[in-house]
Amino acid sequence: MKPPAKLPIENLTEEPYATILCYPHTKPLEVKNRISELKTIGVNMVEFTGNSLAANVPVIGKGYVGIVIIAYTNREQLALKIRRLDSGRENFFHEAEMLQKANNINVGPKFAAATKNFLLSQFINGDFLTKWLETNKTKKAFHSVIHNILEQCWSLDMAGLDHGELSKAPKHLLIDKSGKPFIVDFETASIQRRVANVTSICQHLFVGNNIIPKLIWETLGEKNRDNIINTLRNYKKEKNRKNFETLLQTCL
Ligand SMILES: Nc1ncnc2c1ncn2[C@@H]1O[C@H](COP(=O)(O)OP(=O)(O)OP(=O)(O)O)[C@@H](O)[C@H]1O
Ligand SMILES: [Mg+2]
Repeated sequence: MKPPAKLPIENLTEEPYATILCYPHTKPLEVKNRISELKTIGVNMVEFTGNSLAANVPVIGKGYVGIVIIAYTNREQLALKIRRLDSGRENFFHEAEMLQKANNINVGPKFAAATKNFLLSQFINGDFLTKWLETNKTKKAFHSVIHNILEQCWSLDMAGLDHGELSKAPKHLLIDKSGKPFIVDFETASIQRRVANVTSICQHLFVGNNIIPKLIWETLGEKNRDNIINTLRNYKKEKNRKNFETLLQTCL
């Protein structure tokens, strides 16, 4: 594995960094074009560090659409999502639009800029929800984080913006060092679909057969699963604040 490194974008012509810029295969012309594209959004340095690996280089995240690394403009440190050549996505403009809609209701990392191949946003320095739940054991912290996640999902529901991948919550929930949760990756978000943010997240946090409900109940005390399913059903039928608060009470 390559050691962590911080370099000016001009050095992205060198391997193995060029491969990350044009993952999974370097194309010299594409590398050159992408470096120019980075300049148009003010990025001058990038940093390869993090808990994921791409081409044997440490990065912040690696998905099927993008590789996420740290980037710097003159003013700030940001997260840079690099479009994979094999992503099957034409550009980041839809994701940028959805993220900005989420930002309008204080959800998601703050949008900074988007081009065909790059999405720049606030860098969330933190852990995935599962890891956070495993390492934080106070009842108060658990309650606050879970409550905050549910309120963000409620805001998304009310705004008519469906995230679309909250059933894969472990990959899409980051908790920063101050304990603030962030929903990431608005790539499959939509304002056309029927919203299911609260129901998907509750399914995942409280009902599903995975590690998360187990971790939550261990600290917050076990709740009645049938009650949760019933209150979820009511909320699904009528998405109003009263039904949402009943749901909060049942789950927390
Ligand atoms: N703003 C951010 N700050 C910090 N880390 C981030 C940020 N955005 C994304 N990440 C990290 O990078 C990973 C991949 O990002 P993202 O989910 O947007 O990529 P993707 O290619 O769409 O992934 P997938 O194929 O799972 O849909 C995330 O799981 C997360 O760990
Ligand atoms: Mg995605």
